[in-house]
Amino acid sequence: MASGQSLVPTILLLLLCIVSTAVANSIIQVVSGDRKIQIDDNLYCDSWRLSIETNNYGVWSTVPERCESFVQDYMTGYRYQSDLEFVASVSLTFAKTVELAGDGKDVWVFDIDETLLSNLPYYATIGFGTETYNETSWDEWVASGEAPALVPSLKLYEELQQLGFTIVLLTGRDEYQRNVTVKNLLAAGYTDWETLFLRATSDEGKKAIVYKSEKRAELISEGYRIHGNSGDQWSDLLGYAVANRSFKIPDPLYYIS
Ligand SMILES: *[C@@H]1O[C@H](CO)[C@@H](O)[C@H](O)[C@H]1NC(C)=O
Ligand SMILES: *[C@@H]1O[C@H](CO)[C@@H](O)[C@H](O)[C@H]1NC(C)=O
Ligand SMILES: *[C@@H]1O[C@H](CO)[C@@H](O)[C@H](O)[C@H]1NC(C)=O
Ligand SMILES: [Mg+2]
Repeated sequence: MASGQSLVPTILLLLLCIVSTAVANSIIQVVSGDRKIQIDDNLYCDSWRLSIETNNYGVWSTVPERCESFVQDYMTGYRYQSDLEFVASVSLTFAKTVELAGDGKDVWVFDIDETLLSNLPYYATIGFGTETYNETSWDEWVASGEAPALVPSLKLYEELQQLGFTIVLLTGRDEYQRNVTVKNLLAAGYTDWETLFLRATSDEGKKAIVYKSEKRAELISEGYRIHGNSGDQWSDLLGYAVANRSFKIPDPLYYIS
């Protein structure tokens, strides 16, 4: 009987669903039975992360103490990698819809830190709360030029170049860090950008959102069309002279206004 045969896989599938649901539930129960605080922290920190990523939270200066290990687990685990892959993938999907004029004026803007380059090795040594930020050790880390690429960003960067986009880099790093930044970018695999904007002395004291808007406005006044913009900070993406599409890369480590 044909219908009887087709029932067997259906029943197996159903059993599998029930078993896996039970397994999932039992894991949650064991965890919550053992350490109720733990799961409460996870829920709290997951909601905190959603809130900061969407910018609903607004300005914040420190990772909540109860979320430091959550942030560490997120940044060093598969979830961060998966989120990065996802953003790169939707960015590319948009990029492919853009009709390029072919005059070299079709731009994609990238931020650098936590967008193209990862400072995870630095944060692994100082800890995952903003309270541990130390300008001296940060400058030493930047000067080392050893930040690795965020691999999904590097792939996106190369794919955008193949599509014909002109790449502009716009970073809050200072002009005096240009050489080491270039060296680091090249070592990480980034090549052939059109322009690298760093903060000049005249940009000192400007909020990132103002400085970055000014630079994008400069580009537009020079006839560039900013189709896409990738950054880990809302101040990379908001303000004025914004790109047609902005792509927020996850970053629960720090917030820059
Ligand atoms: C900041 O980093 C420098 C260099 O690593 C270190 O000497 C100094 O003690 C640190 N300062 C604080 C407040 O942690
Ligand atoms: C940066 O590199 C250029 C040449 O590659 C050199 O002329 C310049 O002095 C360097 N600047 C600094 C601050 O090291
Ligand atoms: C980008 O935005 C400008 C201004 O809103 C619009 O004229 C242009 O068609 C947009 N380009 C794309 C590729 O969506
Ligand atoms: Mg950044």
